[in-house]
Amino acid sequence: MVWTRFAAAALAGAGAANAAYSIASTADIKKTAADVAWDLMQYYKGNQSGQTPGILPGPPPAGDYYWWEGGAMWGTLMDYWKLTGDDSYNDVITEAMLWQVGPNRDFKPPNVTASLGNDDQAFWGMSAMLAAENNFPNPPADQPQWLALAQAVFHTQATPDQHDDTCGGGLRWQIYLSNNGYDYKNSIANGCFFNLGARLARYTGNDSYAVWAEKTWDWMRGVGLMDDNYNIYDGGHVQKNCTDINRAQFSYNNAVYLLGAAYMYNYTDGSDKWKGRLDKLVNATITTFFPDNIAYEIACEGHMSCTADMLSFKGYLHRWMATATQVAPYLAGTVLPVLKTSIEAGIQTCTGGDYGRQCGFKWNTKTYDGKTGAGQQMNVLGAVSALLIDANTPPPVTNMTGGTSVGDPDAGSHSEKTNTKKLRDITTGDKAGASILTILAIVSAVGTFGWMSTGI
Ligand SMILES: *[C@@H]1O[C@H](CO)[C@@H](O)[C@H](O)[C@H]1NC(C)=O
Ligand SMILES: *[C@@H]1O[C@H](CO)[C@@H](O)[C@H](O)[C@H]1NC(C)=O
Ligand SMILES: *[C@@H]1O[C@H](CO)[C@@H](O)[C@H](O)[C@H]1NC(C)=O
Ligand SMILES: *[C@@H]1O[C@H](CO)[C@@H](O)[C@H](O)[C@H]1NC(C)=O
Ligand SMILES: *[C@@H]1O[C@H](CO)[C@@H](O)[C@H](O)[C@H]1NC(C)=O
Ligand SMILES: *[C@@H]1O[C@H](CO)[C@@H](O)[C@H](O)[C@H]1NC(C)=O
Ligand SMILES: *[C@@H]1O[C@H](CO)[C@@H](O)[C@H](O)[C@H]1NC(C)=O
Repeated sequence: MVWTRFAAAALAGAGAANAAYSIASTADIKKTAADVAWDLMQYYKGNQSGQTPGILPGPPPAGDYYWWEGGAMWGTLMDYWKLTGDDSYNDVITEAMLWQVGPNRDFKPPNVTASLGNDDQAFWGMSAMLAAENNFPNPPADQPQWLALAQAVFHTQATPDQHDDTCGGGLRWQIYLSNNGYDYKNSIANGCFFNLGARLARYTGNDSYAVWAEKTWDWMRGVGLMDDNYNIYDGGHVQKNCTDINRAQFSYNNAVYLLGAAYMYNYTDGSDKWKGRLDKLVNATITTFFPDNIAYEIACEGHMSCTADMLSFKGYLHRWMATATQVAPYLAGTVLPVLKTSIEAGIQTCTGGDYGRQCGFKWNTKTYDGKTGAGQQMNVLGAVSALLIDANTPPPVTNMTGGTSVGDPDAGSHSEKTNTKKLRDITTGDKAGASILTILAIVSAVGTFGWMSTGI
């Protein structure tokens, strides 16, 4: 199988430098998605002997990818399965997800303690939530279940010791106090928590989750990380009561809040309050991140200073905006045409790599930019698969509409609290292998980002 696909691709690629892909028909979309998925999986070594299941090669310097991105990849492939029906990767997905749950079944495996952010943990939790919503095949009964895993992540983050009074509330970026970034409260950590809360509320019908989601949204607006025009900024430090707002904007922040707001809209039976918020956020997201209707990562794409993390954000943007149209169907006419124009450009970058079909990142140039990676593949896979979402696509299920994943209201309650004694043993070297935005902090310190000096 592997040999055949490589050989066929090599033959097809010989001399054919122009676009490898079409999205002109449903069959073309599925074929394109299948090839892009296959190329994505070439980055995954976790099911080979001696390798760690679940993760992409890393973290740096061992490889390009941090732990969280594996979790994000499994979610991308769960959507691929749901939308195309291709179950080739389902066993690999299940093995990967279950390997990383950690001893307390809450996606806090000890191996990643030294760089574990609330966002990193939550990316795995959101993929577990997605498994429940997509009715992805359930693990054997003696294994952790998807819904319970998502609940465990949410419950560990909702504990009082994770929500101190600095900045008037909110989650810190890092979970453990000895990690770099523990003094930073940021939009992505709170956004993932908000997103999970909204989805758990809709799935389980338990209003406690919605109360938390609402509170988190209000905090974001109050502290100014989401401004009156619904721009979402990166974060601020607790020493400054979060007034030193880092104004970098990343598309995954908009995407994670947009999807959560769509779920809250649905959970509240189409309330005016959430419709108003959702409308403004959709508008701000399209205006900021889709110039000429093509996805563009404004903080880093211009100078191509995007980190491996950032090189995967377009995929979440496309997938989560598309899913939002399933729980807030009135958005379909506004959102889906933009996503289509965007990925029509995106697939034109897929002429790189050994077989002339791997994807680049600079979609608005419609040409390959010379660099391949798991993020670039994941972006196109997510965006192409999402083209299969229309009014006939089954929406995310709930407990009441066919969901079969078994939950646990006590999930996460056995997790260890922050263990400072153990954490004192962590070396500075370990800490340097930090997660999502540490690299950004370093990059911004050397002035790559215009916003640092201009203070836009
Ligand atoms: C790992 O997973 C890939 C993708 O499903 C598959 O092609 C490959 O055969 C698997 N390798 C092993 C050693 O199981
Ligand atoms: C933790 O790291 C060890 C050593 O690399 C590996 O064998 C193990 O599978 C890892 N555990 C997880 C959950 O990744
Ligand atoms: C609702 O969720 C909260 C925590 O999020 C939990 O404490 C409570 O037991 C749940 N209620 C039910 C009926 O499951
Ligand atoms: C800190 O920020 C919060 C949220 O913006 C605000 O409610 C609180 O008054 C601020 N505290 C001080 C001491 O400025
Ligand atoms: C909520 O989502 C369902 C799909 O699960 C959809 O049929 C329904 O129209 C949505 N509700 C609103 C108010 O849009
Ligand atoms: C969208 O945002 C732009 C810029 O903020 C604004 O001018 C426009 O009125 C908004 N449109 C809608 C429909 O809210
Ligand atoms: C769904 O809710 C019912 C009660 O409303 C409960 O008996 C059942 O266990 C729930 N299912 C899951 C998967 O949580």
